[in-house]
Amino acid sequence: MRRYRVAVIPGDGVGKEVIPAGLEVLEALAEREGGFELTFDLFDWGSDHYRATGLMMPPDGLDQIRSSDAIYFGAVGSPGVPDHISLWGLRLAICQPFDQYANVRPARVLPGIVSPLRAVTGPELDWVIVRENSEGEYAGAGGRVHRGLPPEVATDVTIMTRAGVERIFRFAFALARSRPRKLLTIVTKSNAQRHAMVMWDEIGAEIAREFADVAWDRMLVDAMTMRMTLRPQSLDTIVASNLHADILSDLAAALAGSLGIAPTANLNPERRFPSMFEPIHGSAFDIAGKGIANPIGSFWTGAMMLEHLGEKTGADRLMRAIERATADTSLHTPDLGGKATTRAVTDAVIAVIRGENL
Ligand code: IPM
Ligand code: MG
Repeated sequence: MRRYRVAVIPGDGVGKEVIPAGLEVLEALAEREGGFELTFDLFDWGSDHYRATGLMMPPDGLDQIRSSDAIYFGAVGSPGVPDHISLWGLRLAICQPFDQYANVRPARVLPGIVSPLRAVTGPELDWVIVRENSEGEYAGAGGRVHRGLPPEVATDVTIMTRAGVERIFRFAFALARSRPRKLLTIVTKSNAQRHAMVMWDEIGAEIAREFADVAWDRMLVDAMTMRMTLRPQSLDTIVASNLHADILSDLAAALAGSLGIAPTANLNPERRFPSMFEPIHGSAFDIAGKGIANPIGSFWTGAMMLEHLGEKTGADRLMRAIERATADTSLHTPDLGGKATTRAVTDAVIAVIRGENL
């Protein structure tokens, strides 16, 4: 029996609804597959923990999850707790020390889902965005002095290192190579940002030489938004800096039909530390507590986690079960224009896993 220990952090808002739903689905899947077992260690970290203790997670939190095989994460952010505190106190407090530098964000039009782009169907929009997740615009470098006074000044400085840029390009080229089209688009803004982004371009071209069988091109980020919208079929794997990929991945999720569906993996590819898997959507306090959050994002996230753990057969089966559910429009939650509840979608996916020949 293959055994995996997963640290589970539902976090805030709808994270507390979709992650438990994901655990039920993963349990059902593990039972059906038979070859492996998942043990879940639950951590109630997040904004409630902050209100009670002044910290988003305990001071030794990282040590509590360091030996896990993976981290299954919900969402962070809550009204009343400043976003930069909740984020840097939990999500980034895990991503950064665990060196999860490759953030992988697939976007695909699943069966039954209608893209806002007229006439776009599954095969025409099937992308993976690779986001540099450890430095760049979100490195956290900068400062603020003379608060409230006329000479007040604040900076957020982009940090790009050769090592950091090389490793994300190697990762992205390798991922592009593993997909049928072997096509990588490098996003840049080197026309306006003339230092870090120029280095980014140069290193991209250098690494490309190591992957002669991968076709690649380069796009300015502003033009990229148009290409994603007007020629989605011309793209496959995309690599971009922390800020650019943050923005483009929301666009990708929307074009694929809903933010409620999109998954993401924060990977430490060398596996020196556990990697973290989360639905891309946030804590969504406007719908939290109503039982209507779309759990598909957390299920797809679960599939990415299984693949990372080496359980490819289980991951593929889970994806097929998810596609059965999305194909049935009576199982669409309100974000997809339907009326289904988190419970109904979860039950349906579990029933497919248990009962059908997938
Ligand atoms: C995301 C989110 C976060 C990020 C926010 C909450 C800072 O937008 O995962 O894309 O940019 O890292
Ligand atoms: Mg974002």
